[in-house]
Amino acid sequence: MNKDVESILISEEEIAKIVQDISAKITNDYKNRNTKLLLLCILKGSVVFMGDLMKHIDLPLEIDFMKVSSYGSGSKSTGNINIMLDLRRDDLSDTDILIVEDIIDSGKTLSFLSEYLTLKGAKSVKTVTLLDKPDRREVDFTPDYTGKVIPDEFVVGYGLDYDEKYRALPYVGILKREVYSN
Ligand code: IMP
Ligand code: MG
Repeated sequence: MNKDVESILISEEEIAKIVQDISAKITNDYKNRNTKLLLLCILKGSVVFMGDLMKHIDLPLEIDFMKVSSYGSGSKSTGNINIMLDLRRDDLSDTDILIVEDIIDSGKTLSFLSEYLTLKGAKSVKTVTLLDKPDRREVDFTPDYTGKVIPDEFVVGYGLDYDEKYRALPYVGILKREVYSN
């Protein structure tokens, strides 16, 4: 285990099971549509989850990427959503977008993005998140698919970072408080 990790919250094996279950649900819910399914990865934290999810959804799909920031460099939300990389496509009117997020905290990122993509003219917009911390919600937001609800702890690994570190850990772990509290 990484020396900055207090404990493992979700093991590699548990993550694999979560990904399989969510992928099966998504496959079932979207299988009878004749529109295009677009998995929209929110960079950078969702990249590992997205990579696993897209392999297990048993449907034709396309992928795309957006980058937004709601956190600064530390562990506290700034509340501002900046679009760093936008989605530029001319086929949104017949595209079902499934936004792929690593974790929901205040809810600001996903509530903003859902509204933004609906206004841009997407046929439908749904959300899937690996992790959810409902105790931290500042705006009312409920994702369509949730991997696991977790307590209010700062977690890293499986794509999630603190100051760009720990993204490559294969599990989700609770970061030691001393790492970010100075
Ligand atoms: P929200 O807009 O407050 O819901 O923020 C969601 C974003 O905050 C996520 O995409 C992450 O980038 C970041 N975030 C929230 N909690 C954590 C955490 O525990 N570890 C790492 N990143 C987090
Ligand atoms: Mg993120």
